Amino acid sequence: MEAVPGLFCLFSVLVFRFSCLCACACPPLPPPIYLCQGVTVPTSPAPSLTRATAHHVAATPGGPLPSSPRDVVASLVSTRFIKLTWRVPADAHGENLTYQVYYSKEGMNRERVENTSRPGELQVTIQNLLPETVYYFRVVAQNNHGTGESSPPLKVETQPEVQVPGPAPNLRATSSSPTSVSVSWETPLSGNGEIQNYKLYYMEKGAGNEQDIDVGGLSFTVTGLKKYTEYTFRIVAINKHGPGVSTQDVIVRTLSDVPSAAPQNMTLEVRSSQSILVQWQPPPLGTQNGQIVGYKLRYRKTARKTETNEILVDNQLSQLITGLEKNTEYSFRVVAMTVNGSGPATDWVATDTFENDLDESRVPDMPSSLHVRPLVNSIVVSWTPPENQHQVVVRGYAIGYGLGSPHAQTVRVDHKQRYYTIENLEPSSHYVISLKAFNNMGEGIPLYESAVTRQHTQTLLKLMFMLFMPHTPQFQNPAPCCPLWGSRRPS
Ligand SMILES: *[C@@H]1O[C@H](CO)[C@@H](O)[C@H](O)[C@H]1NC(C)=O
Ligand SMILES: *[C@@H]1O[C@H](CO)[C@@H](O)[C@H](O)[C@H]1NC(C)=O
Ligand SMILES: *[C@@H]1O[C@H](CO)[C@@H](O)[C@H](O)[C@H]1NC(C)=O
Ligand SMILES: *[C@@H]1O[C@H](CO)[C@@H](O)[C@H](O)[C@H]1NC(C)=O
Repeated sequence: MEAVPGLFCLFSVLVFRFSCLCACACPPLPPPIYLCQGVTVPTSPAPSLTRATAHHVAATPGGPLPSSPRDVVASLVSTRFIKLTWRVPADAHGENLTYQVYYSKEGMNRERVENTSRPGELQVTIQNLLPETVYYFRVVAQNNHGTGESSPPLKVETQPEVQVPGPAPNLRATSSSPTSVSVSWETPLSGNGEIQNYKLYYMEKGAGNEQDIDVGGLSFTVTGLKKYTEYTFRIVAINKHGPGVSTQDVIVRTLSDVPSAAPQNMTLEVRSSQSILVQWQPPPLGTQNGQIVGYKLRYRKTARKTETNEILVDNQLSQLITGLEKNTEYSFRVVAMTVNGSGPATDWVATDTFENDLDESRVPDMPSSLHVRPLVNSIVVSWTPPENQHQVVVRGYAIGYGLGSPHAQTVRVDHKQRYYTIENLEPSSHYVISLKAFNNMGEGIPLYESAVTRQHTQTLLKLMFMLFMPHTPQFQNPAPCCPLWGSRRPS
């Protein structure tokens, strides 16, 4: 047993001295001593020599090297990195080889190197490449003896940085009619892959309900728009990678047109025996179709339909017509105009000039009479004008009413009215009604009346049914006719 270590040490020393090729291991069994015949045994201690021997063996060249790695492919190609994979060499001459990937930019000689991170690994990711650039890659394997044969160079181009299209240049929008806008643009400069189509987005400015249209070419006319209205337009180009970068919005207003509705709320106010004030409001906002530049006022004596006068009114909402004949009915209508012309007219509205020039420096007197006729849910009110109606202007009447008090509700009617029906009242209730004549100075003294609305028909029917059932189960008119209760103005 003691002979073995002694032999081992001897063998090691021999290897050290003569660089013996079979020294890759120190076998525990007696080595073939004949290899080292004729060598003297050194006297120096063994351990340090052993260590030195191991180091020297790793650096020893001359063993079989790996052949080239097989099937090198770029399994992932991005804009700035590429992943390469391969298979082990046909002749590896070792296990768990390490690999180095050499790569260079097309047209450059300088090669960079990237090592696999672990022995045996068959892939590497090369970072920090430039987009849209051609590179050459080759892979070599290493075993314990050294670096093997290189794979043939693999040519790979990185992806372009911008894959989706950029914004379309020169987006232009012009209104070609009051309801249409023509939009045009150019092909985006950047982007990879042919433009497949464009999306034209548009909406009424600020409305927030954007619509889109697919367009194949470089222009489109959007129709069915609102007149004289601001719209926003933008374009997105689409290629195989998807929709690109949107352009900025362009804003365009559709062209104007004549108004499509008449002015609103035209009123007439008789000012004297010879003058009438006409007032109105512009057509509703969505119907003006442009800037209202003025109004055309037409009027005539109602009895003479053929003689119509026309006045152009600048952008104002009233006009006093003077020089009229007294105690004569006149009819008026008004139209709004844009730069494109006149829109539709209001209906004719008529009124009479005063018979005489009346006083409006004070309020009218009390109406000369007031009558009320109560029904179940309503009261019919009728009256006669103040006695001095031919001296003081009456412009209308104010009717007040309510349960027990006339101040709950007020309605106003014009000076020609002589009756009014107050609706939606409670049955069997006591109402107080007031009537005042008014003019531009204010309201005159009121005249009061009160009335009790009639019983509900069903209640009345039930009552009468109970009373008369045995004899007359049917009756024609259960509600007796109510007389008009009236009151005369105290004078
Ligand atoms: C090679 O790697 C495998 C798995 O990691 C391991 O089991 C084996 O021992 C390695 N072979 C050598 C010679 O290092
Ligand atoms: C790659 O491996 C080689 C050989 O093993 C070595 O010389 C080099 O320093 C390594 N490079 C890097 C970046 O690790
Ligand atoms: C027109 O008159 C009606 C009823 O008095 C009123 O509600 C409306 O606001 C008026 N319109 C305009 C534009 O003045
Ligand atoms: C209205 O007038 C504008 C300005 O003159 C013009 O561009 C537009 O075409 C006109 N609209 C119509 C419907 O003619």
